[in-house]
Amino acid sequence: MKRLTLTILLLAPVLAQAWPWSDDMANQVSAKPQESVNTGNPGMKVFPKRSVPVPGTAATVKDMAAAEKQTNPVAIDDKSVALGGKLFEIYCATCHGNSGKGDGLVGAKLILKPYDLTADQTKGRTDGFIWGYMTFGGAIMPSYANDLSPTERWHLVNYIRKGLQQSSAEAPVAASK
Ligand code: HEC
Repeated sequence: MKRLTLTILLLAPVLAQAWPWSDDMANQVSAKPQESVNTGNPGMKVFPKRSVPVPGTAATVKDMAAAEKQTNPVAIDDKSVALGGKLFEIYCATCHGNSGKGDGLVGAKLILKPYDLTADQTKGRTDGFIWGYMTFGGAIMPSYANDLSPTERWHLVNYIRKGLQQSSAEAPVAASK
């Protein structure tokens, strides 16, 4: 019994990751995010007077309902579509496939198959809806709010519209803004 107690006590730090060296890397002399370098004034440094957030970094869209109503601020020109295409290859094609039809290699393994983005359903969505889906994710689809800037998400919308939906022979793209 004594031995068991001793073993448990010895192993406890493993489970809690509480060995003295477990957080060595985190304990450095460098200032941590939002930590003040002035010990007389601990806590976050106050923002300079009249400072404003960098465009696109402040969250203004809180949910899908708000996202859906947005108008696409990025013109659907060749440059934007090309940029969106590159991003699509990196972030979306694994599941949705290069053609956007939902036939990506990873998508094939999912219980809920990735939707065909060239189908009427997505054609009928607003640009804001597609943007919002990347921002908030779906039931299975993860959120890309941390990986893609708001503007990058609009480039992706433009690519889905022009690069995928228009090049698939069916009905013209629903005019949605
Ligand atoms: C891990 C696989 C996966 C990745 C990667 C992925 N998706 Fe999805 N996506 C899904 C699945 C599965 C659905 C089906 C609905 C759900 O999960 O809620 C979906 C649904 C969607 C829808 C909804 C379509 C509609 O009309 O309802 C959009 C739009 C979409 N994805 C766009 C994208 C874009 C753009 C990217 C890249 C930034 C992306 N997806 C990356 C799996 C993925």
